[in-house]
Amino acid sequence: MAKLYINEKNRKGKINPEIYGHFSEHLGRCIYEGLYVGENSDIPNENGMRKDVVEALREMQIPVLRWPGGCFADEYHWMDGIGPKEGRKKMINTHWGGVVEDNSFGTHEFFELCRQLGCKAYVNGNVGSGTVQEMSEWVEYITFDGVSPMADLRKENGHEEPWRLDYFGVGNENWGCGGNMRPQYYADLYRRYQTYVRQYHKDAPVYKICCGANAGDYDWTEEVLKTCSPDPARFMNGLSLHYYVTPGGWEKKGSATEFDENDWYLTLSKALYMEELVTRHGTIMDKYDPEKKIGMIVDEWGNWFDVEPGTNPGFLYQQNTMRDALVAGVTLNIFNKHCDRVKMACIAQLVNVLQSVILTEGPKMVKTPTYHVFHMYRYHQGASLLDSFLAENNEAGDGAYRVPALQESVSVSEDGTVNVTLANLSVSDAQEVEVEFAALSPQKVSASIVTQKMDAHNTFDEPEKVKEETFTAYTITEKGVKLTVPACSVVLLRIA
Ligand code: AHR
Repeated sequence: MAKLYINEKNRKGKINPEIYGHFSEHLGRCIYEGLYVGENSDIPNENGMRKDVVEALREMQIPVLRWPGGCFADEYHWMDGIGPKEGRKKMINTHWGGVVEDNSFGTHEFFELCRQLGCKAYVNGNVGSGTVQEMSEWVEYITFDGVSPMADLRKENGHEEPWRLDYFGVGNENWGCGGNMRPQYYADLYRRYQTYVRQYHKDAPVYKICCGANAGDYDWTEEVLKTCSPDPARFMNGLSLHYYVTPGGWEKKGSATEFDENDWYLTLSKALYMEELVTRHGTIMDKYDPEKKIGMIVDEWGNWFDVEPGTNPGFLYQQNTMRDALVAGVTLNIFNKHCDRVKMACIAQLVNVLQSVILTEGPKMVKTPTYHVFHMYRYHQGASLLDSFLAENNEAGDGAYRVPALQESVSVSEDGTVNVTLANLSVSDAQEVEVEFAALSPQKVSASIVTQKMDAHNTFDEPEKVKEETFTAYTITEKGVKLTVPACSVVLLRIA
């Protein structure tokens, strides 16, 4: 039997709610159809935003939304997306499917979406093909409340008050689609561009995010921080990191729904690699920023599989199974455990693209297994991480890929309730666990679970095949809780 020791006396810092963030790009059917259908659509909407999707995302407690890209961000010229819609420029979305982008979703629509979702706004600026002036004026347009050309333009376009801009990204993947730059060159540009991201509100400063590494490119992190030394925190509040799980590599990623046990363990072992990435990039950050003033911002992560057969390869539409639920569960546990450094993370992407929490088809909508994990984990948002340790943990998997059977994180909410999230990575074996506190003697426990066969997924005909359900296979003991965690599941215990 595995033991989960929790020292409830050792609080290890606050889990920023933004670790549970999301990403929405002008890509495939994420923005258009997935989130925004326009005011004249038959699909019920408020100011063009789908009501069903907004309601589901509010229920999941979405804390922050990143927009407009991704690779799209470094091709996006924000002025094309303001003013009367009939006058907005059309362009070809060269990165994603070569479709016409009519710019009907722009700055005003994004902030309206954030208002409806009740979440923070993370806007990603254009360094790759944009000017310093363009970036600077965007920030002025969004945030300035005095008299200025951009503030006046915003008012002319119908928005008297400035918006609150919580996060601003200075470029995206500038080592790749954002300009193919070398780290020193980008870092010099970063120093320059960020200078003109003006802080118009001392009480609500914009959190500036510098473009960080692709997966295990530690040289990028080192060189960017070195170029911004001696005190990189003068220039940046956050440094990003992108990592996607592609089971068969970039050439042959593999199907989202048709896979075997070997693929299952391969995928999970690749997801667990996030631990090493966060640790090693974190070690470099510690060297240049020992006081941890700069947040690690994992603003793109998740599974990237082959597109669903018959769909546009440039739209990145993929199904979502229990395998995605497990990847979400273990990744979020890793972020929780590194909450001293990881301050935000955005799964890619919100709707209809990559590892989405929601899929839509015309007026229909389904919540994916990943959605249910985010919903279950929402109690960690803003809670304090607790010291926890798993002993006598089995291994799961055979052949080439072996992973720890159980993986966990534990937090305590403000009202004193302890939140334990446990993932069982084994496809075949249930795991018995004894949870033991240092001193706490539990009085009350409630629990829920997401579990099903490894390839189970929700479809528009069967939208509730995988869902969050009440979990009862536990007993309260004097020092904790005993439970049996079913194979292939993610469990939440709330212990008071
Ligand atoms: O999320 C899809 C793409 O992946 C993003 O546009 C880009 O930043 C990354 O390469």
